[in-house]
Amino acid sequence: MASADAELKGKHRKMWASGDYPSMVETFLLPLGPRLVEACGIGPGMKVLDVAAGTGNASIPAAKTGAEVTASDLTPELFDAGRERAKAEGVELEWVEADAENLPFEDGAYDVVISSIGAMFAPHHQEVADELVRVCKPGGKIGLLSWTPEGQIGGFFKTMGPFAPPPPPGAQPPPLWGSEDHIDELFGDRVDWQTLERDLLEITAFEKPRDWGEHFKQRYGPTIAARANAEKEGRADEFDKAIDDFCDEWNQGKADDARFEMEYLLAVGTRE
Ligand SMILES: C[S@@+](CC[C@H](N)C(=O)[O-])C[C@H]1O[C@@H](n2cnc3c(N)ncnc32)[C@H](O)[C@@H]1O
Repeated sequence: MASADAELKGKHRKMWASGDYPSMVETFLLPLGPRLVEACGIGPGMKVLDVAAGTGNASIPAAKTGAEVTASDLTPELFDAGRERAKAEGVELEWVEADAENLPFEDGAYDVVISSIGAMFAPHHQEVADELVRVCKPGGKIGLLSWTPEGQIGGFFKTMGPFAPPPPPGAQPPPLWGSEDHIDELFGDRVDWQTLERDLLEITAFEKPRDWGEHFKQRYGPTIAARANAEKEGRADEFDKAIDDFCDEWNQGKADDARFEMEYLLAVGTRE
């Protein structure tokens, strides 16, 4: 069982290290980290854990407030870009390889535990929620920013689903973390949610709508994995058409001046 899980996590690590996730952060995801940090009221001297931190999109702005930050992630390959950005921003933080389903940290070790579009990608949601609660001290804060099932990334995962390799047993779809009901089920009365609100990330970085899809096909691990599987099944053209259609459908701008609005759920609460 343990070796099956290690094999699964090894595959996930390889997937997230593929492509070029750091460049996606720089192109359009950067506003998310500071939004989460601000919503959690992170400040000087607080001990903060960022779970599935990637290149530190939330960890770095948290460290800039004077907090003592640990950035943890399954994919340490992403830390190099994070370290470079932290250096450029003049902050120091700790980078730790860690699976969100089995965190290598003590009970109640952190004042604030956050995850920006991160912990949602570990396959076993209840295990992740239990770990987030465990490492947060009673009276501390848990803050999560997650793509919603009804928003653009929720729709994107639905579009990619039929082409992707079958999910592992017991895995739940990542965008479920963007559902208020799912959050309630996962955390029960262990967290008192003060903020549970949906908002939009506006994206104007792409000229043509289909440039969004090309960007994901070249850089985003889950899209690279789904397309590779489609190719193996002789369905690469079908996949490309589905992604093109998806981009046209979700474009809120013009044909030569694309604009997208990606919905997320911001959840911030106190650990009881
Ligand atoms: C979309 S990225 C988000 C990264 C970062 N938090 C941000 O806001 O840019 C998803 C991250 O989840 C990480 N991840 C996936 N499965 C994980 C797991 N089981 N445990 C910890 N991190 C995981 C990936 O390595 C990747 O860095």
